[in-house]
Amino acid sequence: MTTKTLTNLLSPIKIRTMELKNRSVMPAMGTNLANNDGTVSDALVAYMRRRAQGGLGLIISEVTAVHPSGIAIDTELGAYDDRFIEGLAKLSNTIHSNGAKAALQLHHAGRESFFLLQKGEAIGPSAVPSLVYGMAPREMTKDDIKEIVEAFGTAAYRAKQAGFDAVEIHAAHGYLLTQFLSPLANKRTDEYGGDMFGRSRFVLEVISEVRSRVGDDFPVILRVSAEESIKGGYTVDDICQVLPSFVQAGTDVIHASLGTHGSPAGITIAPVEYEPGFNVWRARKVKDAVHVPVIAVGRFTDPYLADEVIAKGDADLVAFGRQMLADPDFLEKAKSGRSDEIRECIACNQGCIERLMLELGKIRCAINPETGQELIYPRTPAKEKKRVWVIGGGPAGLTASLEAARLGHDVDLFEMGKELGGQVLYASIPPAKDAYRKWIHGLISQVKNSGVKVHTSTPVNEGMIEDKSPDVVILATGGA
Ligand SMILES: Cc1cc2nc3c(=O)[nH]c(=O)nc-3n(C[C@H](O)[C@H](O)[C@H](O)COP(=O)(O)O)c2cc1C
Ligand code: SF4
Repeated sequence: MTTKTLTNLLSPIKIRTMELKNRSVMPAMGTNLANNDGTVSDALVAYMRRRAQGGLGLIISEVTAVHPSGIAIDTELGAYDDRFIEGLAKLSNTIHSNGAKAALQLHHAGRESFFLLQKGEAIGPSAVPSLVYGMAPREMTKDDIKEIVEAFGTAAYRAKQAGFDAVEIHAAHGYLLTQFLSPLANKRTDEYGGDMFGRSRFVLEVISEVRSRVGDDFPVILRVSAEESIKGGYTVDDICQVLPSFVQAGTDVIHASLGTHGSPAGITIAPVEYEPGFNVWRARKVKDAVHVPVIAVGRFTDPYLADEVIAKGDADLVAFGRQMLADPDFLEKAKSGRSDEIRECIACNQGCIERLMLELGKIRCAINPETGQELIYPRTPAKEKKRVWVIGGGPAGLTASLEAARLGHDVDLFEMGKELGGQVLYASIPPAKDAYRKWIHGLISQVKNSGVKVHTSTPVNEGMIEDKSPDVVILATGGA
């Protein structure tokens, strides 16, 4: 039961000199839209512009490599050279032009880079194989450690030069900084290993270096996995012991994510079986351990639920990740009393993270055809109105019909079954699949209100097409 107010979520918050107009945050999400050389592309700027139009207070830009030894995929955005500053400035300007503040996420992949592991060039705290890729990195020397600490500081300074309002140090999800924190990945016997305090030394040095390079006014966010969520990994109680020292070293905000590479069920980017806001209790624990603002994250799709979390004092800000891919306008819709129009992320992971990680493709969303294609996506009505036939009333046919109607075409939608919805009607029946039901019924009702002529129980044959000769036929019978 939600409180049905947005007052808390929409209230401003000040972090050092950065004033956020509200407490909604877009967390970093890799897109693979950068140019091949790691510079900012026009497609990435267009993607970000669309996100920034959503009215959130803070947008954290995707993983950005601080050093060539920490690139996770070969096209990862970079901040390890001055040549990146010009493109990064375009990104921060785009975010600013729509009233949000911009943070750049500073990243080093450590052993979680298939790309570098294959070449024998990945580094990590110890030569412990990646649970995902099964290959071991080279153990970092003290000189390596010094070099990477400095690289974080220099990259943070470049972010500031590029006009970002803050940086986020990525110490979550199993990348290099988590590897140092983890008893599973860090087997060092020097001062960078041992108990939680020893294992936190590298992170502390990174925070101190970043703080010294960006100055006193500039906000520094630290993203941690509040627990590794894997057998033998560190727990939330373990990390809460060292969080105060991270704050002491210069952290202004803790972003309480969870999980590591190899955590069961992909809990970092939780599937639909996890309830919206399932991770809030960890944010609460983090909040009890430190005196700085905390960002909660994990399956938030409903701004009213986020408001409730802030009202209860469980977190100070709330991050909406995949919801911003599925519907970047969700907050504006809620603010203007159009919550029923929100396209809620169904946590399928197919269009976004699986496409990125398994296919090395560019970001997309299974239920939002615009995501990742903002640069070429048509927005204004077509110059020439066409007669469009869409065959198949499942999610693809419904979406194609809606988009064609939005562009001003004359659309007929044919479904051979008695009702619209296709296979998703069945997929939405099992427990925990309510998000699918909401999505498909939302689509159906939008189509019914869009002027599309719907013909159920109507199989289409060649004769019908020859007889009526529509200008365009879209075959959308995929799941049948
Ligand atoms: C496509 C995709 C890319 C992501 N890339 C990053 C990233 O670059 N850095 C990061 O810290 N988290 C990344 N994440 C995790 C998100 O920031 C977020 O923590 C996660 O999706 C859970 O939030 P949500 O349930 O609101 O989506 C990514 C998630 C997705 C779906
Ligand atoms: S592809 Fe699926 S999980 Fe990813 S944003 Fe879209 S609906 Fe959400």
